[in-house]
Amino acid sequence: MPATILIGAQWGDEGKGRVADRLAARADVVARYAGGDNAGHTVRVGDNTFKLHLIPSGILHEDALCVLGAGTVVNPLTVLRELDDLEKGGIHVTPERLAIDPRAHIITPAHIALDSAGERALGKDAIGTTNRGIGPAYASKMARTGIRAGSMLDAEHFGDQIERAIADGSRTLTALYNQPPIDNAREKTAEYVEAARRLAPYVRDGVAIVQDALEAGWRVLCEGAQGTLLDIDHGMYPFVTSSAPTVGGALTGLGFGPRYVDRVIGVAKAFSTRVGSGPFPTELNDALGDRLRGTGENPWDEFGTTTGRPRRCGWLDMVILRYAVRINGLTELVINKLDVLSGFDELKIATAYTINGETVNRLPHDLELLACAEPIYETLPGWSETITDVHRFSGLPANARAYLTRIEQLCGVPITSIGVGPERDQVIEPD
Ligand code: GDP
Ligand code: IMO
Ligand code: MG
Repeated sequence: MPATILIGAQWGDEGKGRVADRLAARADVVARYAGGDNAGHTVRVGDNTFKLHLIPSGILHEDALCVLGAGTVVNPLTVLRELDDLEKGGIHVTPERLAIDPRAHIITPAHIALDSAGERALGKDAIGTTNRGIGPAYASKMARTGIRAGSMLDAEHFGDQIERAIADGSRTLTALYNQPPIDNAREKTAEYVEAARRLAPYVRDGVAIVQDALEAGWRVLCEGAQGTLLDIDHGMYPFVTSSAPTVGGALTGLGFGPRYVDRVIGVAKAFSTRVGSGPFPTELNDALGDRLRGTGENPWDEFGTTTGRPRRCGWLDMVILRYAVRINGLTELVINKLDVLSGFDELKIATAYTINGETVNRLPHDLELLACAEPIYETLPGWSETITDVHRFSGLPANARAYLTRIEQLCGVPITSIGVGPERDQVIEPD
């Protein structure tokens, strides 16, 4: 069965971009199924670092056809910027290599303005969104007032729709948030019209592309964005994104049935991070957390790919990983950034929580309970060796192997790939 679904098993930024890039080498179609340019997927290839927000990481492999699926929300200006950045990095993208499903929804300037205004109005209760207009764009989609990517095929009509969206958004900004209307509406509309003209050749039926590929037995990689704990239904609502990054989102976002799926790969870091607000039971607000984050000196230190915000850091949480295994039916796990744990005397893994004096093994759905969850830790010995050049499991220090084996035991699925550095081949995989 030819479909592989790749999913973030934590709060996003697990290193999905690098994993997608590796898997794309053997894929015919690589498709994003949910989210928009709130994502930031980093792929390092030699001296080049690609930071992809919308275009699937498969674009770096010239034999892969990339799709922005029906379930995504698309800012046309971001697509153009990415096409230009890719060109500068030596990757020439033609409409034969990239398809934007006409069913995907357009993020308008109004959505972006409303995202920021909504966050400001929430004050200390703000979600900490990426301010890319994601929530408002999905809200328009659900309200059945959105603009779909297919509209870009008629640039003039598209311009009218954008103009109206900006005018409606301005009215909401003024009435609801007491804010001035959206500025430079005419210029913004013109930019969108120009983008539509350039992107029209890329608008192609992504559902048909994916289905034809699956029926022909080609390999389809579904590149997840965000992470399980950010899922609109299964994440820590309301501190979530507005889409379905979990396994079901791949099926609805691309339009195919589960019988084609053979692998569901969860990507996790060897520790935990999150950006934005909301509960984080194993968060470390101390020197250890700072050490996991890094100073920003290394490109892989924990600062957001999309917003540059410092990520909150903490120990690995197996309650969360077990939850991700069950919600997504993960068949395997990738553990990234094991190299960052070199040099810690000891490492902790949360195996359960104490909530109001009781031991809890499953993630509670009640945010207030979660906010007072005390992790129950298991302590494992660390290792001092640098592991960035290790290519085989047997070459890892014994304590690193024990750490990984314990993760496998606690979540019940095999680890099939281990990241020991950010480069394309700084990865340990079975021979
Ligand atoms: P994504 O959103 O899941 O694709 O992840 P991001 O690209 O936002 O963040 C992951 C960061 O970690 C990027 O800077 C990657 O280059 C880096 N990275 C991925 N895997 C590894 C690894 O195994 N070790 C190290 N040191 N960095 C990694
Ligand atoms: P990748 O694909 C990490 C988080 C935001 C915020 C919440 C809602 O790179 O893993 P939104 O702008 O989506 O309305 O913000 O979701 N968030 C991410 N965090 N990685 C991401 O994507 C994220 N996409 C959204 O920080 O907490
Ligand atoms: Mg990211």
